[in-house]
Amino acid sequence: MSASYVTQLFPAQEIRPLEGLYLAHELRRAAADQPFVYANFVTSLDGRIAVPDPMKGGMKAPPNVTNARDWRLFQELAIQADLIITTGRYLRDYAAGKAQEILRVYDDPRFADLVAWRAGQGLSPQPDLVVVSSTLDFPVPDALTHGGRHVIIVTDHRADAARIHALEAQVGRVYVAGEERVGGDVFVRLMADLGYRLIYSAAGPKIAHMLLEDGVLDRLYLTQVCRVLGATPFSSIVDGPLLDAPVDLPLLSLAYDPHALDGVGQLFGCYGRR
Ligand SMILES: NC(=O)c1ccc[n+]([C@@H]2O[C@H](COP(=O)([O-])OP(=O)(O)OC[C@H]3O[C@@H](n4cnc5c(N)ncnc54)[C@H](OP(=O)(O)O)[C@@H]3O)[C@@H](O)[C@H]2O)c1
Repeated sequence: MSASYVTQLFPAQEIRPLEGLYLAHELRRAAADQPFVYANFVTSLDGRIAVPDPMKGGMKAPPNVTNARDWRLFQELAIQADLIITTGRYLRDYAAGKAQEILRVYDDPRFADLVAWRAGQGLSPQPDLVVVSSTLDFPVPDALTHGGRHVIIVTDHRADAARIHALEAQVGRVYVAGEERVGGDVFVRLMADLGYRLIYSAAGPKIAHMLLEDGVLDRLYLTQVCRVLGATPFSSIVDGPLLDAPVDLPLLSLAYDPHALDGVGQLFGCYGRR
């Protein structure tokens, strides 16, 4: 099988091009008349989505599992969105030169077809961005508002009022949506009131917990690279207290990509309620 293809295993077995695999999910249709929230992770077989960064400190997505083929599908999910969720942690790491670029990918010629796809849908050139943060302890990089993108900041009642005012002067409205932390339900309602329907979490396990806890995550895209990493500490896809009730996300589709990482291979799983 050529490297441009993957094998879909479920619901029907068929050979499909990698490019277009997630555009074909037509997420905008799912969000036609109500908010639709989806998240994406790439993980090792032992569930590592982030491991310690020995060079720069902190945690980062494991370089032994991130790969260009998964990144392509990440972009196919992002390009469909009205709004992308990111975090204070991401902007701190971005400022420190430690974070993978999610802010300006639309300048990348590899994704020119996705830019054209978005224009063809009559959408703004790129999704808006929402930053969720309790501390508001992050600098706002110029790239954040690149291309006229709107940036929304959502925090909780622990945030410092002076910092809220400073950020409002710089990027616009800061919303408070929770006491100790931002709540998933109030967050999604707020975004819907602002006119956003299709909301993509490019954030990590705490945001995933926020969304799952309040039952507002509609779909999970999970790439499993066929590789075991070990590492302690590590992050998995969800970080937070035991959920009051387990969240069931039945399998919607599964594809096998044998070509990733020089033949290590990976599974592209999609789980959700509808
Ligand atoms: N492998 C993958 O696919 C993948 C995907 C995403 C992320 N990651 C990795 O996972 C790690 C964590 O990512 P992340 O920091 O973006 O995501 P996160 O763990 O979901 O969020 C962490 C930060 O977001 C803010 N936050 C989260 N939930 C909040 C809530 N309910 N209320 C208020 N603020 C909240 C806080 O910011 P403040 O500290 O500013 O208050 C917190 O420090 C990183 O190492 C990243 O590289 C891996």
